[in-house]
Amino acid sequence: MNKISVAIDGPAGAGKSSVAKTVAAALGYVYIDTGAMYRSVAVYAIENGIDIDKDREELTARLDDIDISLKNDGGRQLVFLNGKDVTDRIRTEDASMGASAVAAIPEVRKKLVSEQKKMAESGGIIMDGRDIGTSVLPGAELKIYLTASVSERAKRRYKENLERGIECDYSDIENDVRKRDENDMTRAVSPLRKADGAVTVDTSSMTFEESVRTVTDMIREKEADVI
Ligand code: DC
Repeated sequence: MNKISVAIDGPAGAGKSSVAKTVAAALGYVYIDTGAMYRSVAVYAIENGIDIDKDREELTARLDDIDISLKNDGGRQLVFLNGKDVTDRIRTEDASMGASAVAAIPEVRKKLVSEQKKMAESGGIIMDGRDIGTSVLPGAELKIYLTASVSERAKRRYKENLERGIECDYSDIENDVRKRDENDMTRAVSPLRKADGAVTVDTSSMTFEESVRTVTDMIREKEADVI
């Protein structure tokens, strides 16, 4: 079967990364989490004392010094920033906040989009993010807009927090989900939107297994079309 290129976009918390990672492992595709790259640029800024909002010029002047590489280690994607393993570091709260800020800087997007296009050249990849179908891989054989309702995404996060023993207020989480959607969808550069030709998968009433099966079936069907 011919492997294809798959672009998955959608709002935060819709389950893109977990679904994409699981499907990629099952079908032998390379999974590329582009959010990890924006997070790595944020960690570079934080660790070099660069205030992303105030010292934006300094950050853009140093972009050539930022080397990000993604490696697959079994089912896990390891992230290296200038040779240092930052896989866990990029998941912290300050890295999430910073990633959202660096993602609005056009020069950062230009650098990362160009690297992502190169990573995808060999095909057989599932790439997820916010602008994959619109900017990075507009020619992908399969483009998916993976989404879920605000209340469902908030409920999932609330449940995850409880399971990890993190105390939280449901309405704060729902407000946060709305705020992140607004940031992603209204920013000037590459706002999140459904790409032309993308198929919407709404996971609001699906279990994780059902989401995985739906995406797997869509890829299998496309593979069969590609000669
Ligand atoms: O998916 P994530 O939470 O790891 O993404 C981190 C931040 O980067 C988030 O603010 C959205 C942004 N992002 C983006 O603008 N474009 C992408 N292709 C991937 C992520």
